[in-house]
Amino acid sequence: MHTGIESPQGFWWKPAHRTERLWVIIAFAWCMVLFAMMPFWHLRGGQNPSGIRSKVEPQAFMARTQEFIDAYRVGEDSGIPVVEPPPGSDIYLMGSMWQWRPVLRLQAGVEYTLHISSLDVNHGFSLYPINVNFQIVPGYDYGLRVTPTEAGDFRIICNEFCGIGHHSMTGRIIVED
Ligand code: CUA
Repeated sequence: MHTGIESPQGFWWKPAHRTERLWVIIAFAWCMVLFAMMPFWHLRGGQNPSGIRSKVEPQAFMARTQEFIDAYRVGEDSGIPVVEPPPGSDIYLMGSMWQWRPVLRLQAGVEYTLHISSLDVNHGFSLYPINVNFQIVPGYDYGLRVTPTEAGDFRIICNEFCGIGHHSMTGRIIVED
């Protein structure tokens, strides 16, 4: 019969074996490394947006994007304007239910400032087939500094569920040498 006021039988309170102590030390040290990585990577990690962020009224962003489209429009693709901005300029891309506007035609090897925002709800900017992902939030203009590194015909796919037409929300970026 065993009660809570008697010492339990056994030898679990003997000092831990040397290898067990070593394991605890290694595990604790690794925990500290992982803990330190959180603030370090927050500041230094390559996943952070490369540019500026500011608040913007969706209607103002739409007006600015339309101005950009009117200035540099060179054609149309399935009802969406195709825009070829001057190399190195500020470029605009607008996500809304359920389209990306406009189609951008860019030069490889040139840095652009990509202003990107949403008119309505959260959308996900995913550049296919490259592993580039960015969350597009209404009310914020993300001025991302981007340099297309290779020529190609890329698709933008929305990877944030945004309603009944989410699956059809695709866009296009053309990069020329
Ligand atoms: Cu936009 Cu899903």
